[in-house]
Amino acid sequence: MTITATTAALLAPASAPTSVVSWVERIAALTQPDSIHWCDGSPSERAALIETLVDAGTLTPLNPDLRPGSYLARSHPEDVARVESRTFICSPTPDGAGPTNNWADPAEMRETLDGLFEGSMRGRTMYVVPFSMGPVGSPLARVGVQVTDSPYVVVSTGTMTRMGANALAQIGPETEWVPAVHSVGAPLSPGDTDVPWPCNDTKYIVHYPHDREIWSFGSAYGGNAILAKKAFALRIASAMGRDEGWLAAHMLLLKVTNPRGKTFHVAAAFPSACGKTNFAMLQPSIPGWTVETIGDDIAWLAPGPDGRLRAINPEAGFFGVAPGTGQSTNPVAVDMLQRDVIFTNVALTDDGDVWWEGLTEEPPAHLTDWRGNDWTPDSPTPAAHPNSRFTVSASQCPTIADTWDDPAGVPVDAIIFGGRRATNVPLVTQARSWEHGVYLGATLASERTAAAEGVVGELRRDPFAMMPFSGTHMADHWQHWLDVGTTLEAAGGAPAIFQVNWFRKGDDGRFLWPGFAENARVLAWILDRVEGRNSYVDGPLGRMPVDGAINYAAAGVPRADWDALFDVDEAMLTAEADDTGRFLEGYGDAVPTVLRQQHAQLRSRLAEIPPH
Ligand code: GTP
Ligand code: SPV
Ligand code: MN
Repeated sequence: MTITATTAALLAPASAPTSVVSWVERIAALTQPDSIHWCDGSPSERAALIETLVDAGTLTPLNPDLRPGSYLARSHPEDVARVESRTFICSPTPDGAGPTNNWADPAEMRETLDGLFEGSMRGRTMYVVPFSMGPVGSPLARVGVQVTDSPYVVVSTGTMTRMGANALAQIGPETEWVPAVHSVGAPLSPGDTDVPWPCNDTKYIVHYPHDREIWSFGSAYGGNAILAKKAFALRIASAMGRDEGWLAAHMLLLKVTNPRGKTFHVAAAFPSACGKTNFAMLQPSIPGWTVETIGDDIAWLAPGPDGRLRAINPEAGFFGVAPGTGQSTNPVAVDMLQRDVIFTNVALTDDGDVWWEGLTEEPPAHLTDWRGNDWTPDSPTPAAHPNSRFTVSASQCPTIADTWDDPAGVPVDAIIFGGRRATNVPLVTQARSWEHGVYLGATLASERTAAAEGVVGELRRDPFAMMPFSGTHMADHWQHWLDVGTTLEAAGGAPAIFQVNWFRKGDDGRFLWPGFAENARVLAWILDRVEGRNSYVDGPLGRMPVDGAINYAAAGVPRADWDALFDVDEAMLTAEADDTGRFLEGYGDAVPTVLRQQHAQLRSRLAEIPPH
C-alpha cells in the first residue's frame, strides 16, 4: 500500500495535534512509505519493534542468562560514527552558522533534500516518534517529533528520551515543537530483500536553526540518526537558548555530597569520548564523598527564579562509549549494563555475551568481532569498534540521583571544561572570573577521538566541546555565555569555572594522572574553592591547588609526576597562545572584546614567566 495524505491522517491517533498530522501527511507524501506507525511509547510496542529488528537481523539477542533483555547490533562498517563533514547548519545567511560550521543555503538545501527524500521510505514503515527533552511538563523541557524509517532509531529514541503518547500530549495548538525527518535512504522495491543495517553512502545531517527543523539522510548511527540528541538538544537548542536566554551545553551533570553532608551540583563539558560518562558515574577514591549521576552528555542551563543557574538533563538514557568501560575504570557502568541494553558494534563472545577492549584485562581466547569476523587476541584490529556504544535507560544507573528528573532542575555550583591534552594544560585550574572561564571554554582544544570521522589523536580546537554541535555562529555562542554570566552576576552570583585535564602525559607517553576514581581529589579541591577555601596559588593559566591541597601521593602519583602535571613551559605555552590568537582571528570581528582582552592578558602573564 502506498500512503497518501488522506490515509496518513486516518492512521493518526485521535488526540494527535493538527499541526503534527498535517506535517506527517506532507512527509509521507514525499517519502512514500508502505505504512505509518504512530508510536505510543508502550512496553508492548517496544517488544514488537525489537521482534521486528531481530527478524530483520539488525539485532542479535544476547544470552538471556548472561545479559537478559539485551541485544547486539552490528552497523554497516561505514556507518560507525558522526559525520561532521556532512553536517550542515542552514541558517538564513552564512553569518548565522559562522566560519566553523558547514553552511548551506536553506532554499538550495531544501531542494537537494526534496530530491533525496522523494520515495526514500518506499517499502518501509514510517514511524512517528513524539518525544520530550526534559521531564514531561517541565518549564525547561521542549518537545519534538521525529519521523524515521529505522525501527532501530525508534527503539534507541525510546530509551534516550521520554517518548510516546505523553510527549505528544504536550503539544497544544500554540506549542512550538521541533520536526525531525530521518530516512536511512534505502527504499525497497517489491521483491527486494532488506539488509540488517540499511543506510546510504550519501549522508546529510541538516539543521535549519531559524525554522527549528532537522532533516537527516543516509545514516542510522548515533548522533546522525537519534535526532533528539545532538541535532535537537544541542544544535537546535543552542539557537533556541540564544533567543530565549538559556544555554544548551555538551555537559555531564553530577551531584556531589562532601563529608560534612553538603551537596553541590557540577556541570562539565568534555569533547566526545573524553570522559563525561565516566566522570558522571565517579566512585570517589576519597572517604566520605559521594557522587550521584544526573546526566552524562547534555545539559540545558537556565537562570532560575531565584537567580541561580539551574540545569536539567534533557535526555532519559545513556548512549555511552563501550571501550575502556571496565570494573577498574567505571564499575557503575559495568553494573548498569547487566541487563536491558542495546549494544552496537561491540564484540560477541562464544557464549552469547558481549566484550570490548577494557571490559576485562584478559581478552577472551575467541570472539566474533564487531564486523562479524572471527577474532583472537592475535588479531591486528580491535574486537570492538573504538566508537562502539551501549544504549541504556538512565533509570538503570545505580548512582542515579533522586533529583535527576526534577522538573525544576538542580542549582549549578561549578562548571568544568576539559579535554584530552598530552601537554600544556594542567591537571586543574580555576578561572579568575566568569569572563576568564568563558575564555577557557572558548579556546578549549582536544585530541580527536573515534566519536567522529578524522585522524584520532590530532589536536583540534573544540570550543565549549561544542564545535560539532553548535547551531549558531561559535562567537555568538561565546557572547551568549558572557551575557548569561552578566545576568547571573546581577542576580547574586554565577557558578565558578574550572579547567581539568586527566590526559597529560610524561615524556615516556604514560598518563601522569591515574584518572577515574582519583578524579575525586580534583573534584574535592574544586568544591573547596566553591566554598571559598583559600587553597590556591595564582599562576599564568589561572588558580592552581596550593601545595598540600590535593593528596597526590595517596593517588599513587610520585612528586615528579605531580610537578609535571602543573608544569608551565613558557615556550610551549607561547606557541599555543600564538595558535589561539590565529584561532580567534578566524572568527574576525565577531569575537567578543572581553575574550580578546582575556587573550591579551594571558599573553602578558606568559611574557612574565622566566624561561624554562
Ligand atoms: P561521548 O559519549 O562521546 O560524548 O563521550 P564521553 O565524554 O562521555 O566519554 P566517556 O566517559 O565514555 O570516556 C571515553 C573514553 O575515555 C573511555 O575509553 C574512558 O575509559 C576514557 N576515560 C574516561 N575518563 C578517563 C580518565 O580519567 N583517565 C583516562 N586515562 N581515561 C579516561
Ligand atoms: C558524541 O559524539 O559526543 C556522542 C555520541 O555523545 S553521538 O550521539 O553519536 O553524537
Ligand atoms: Mn557526547
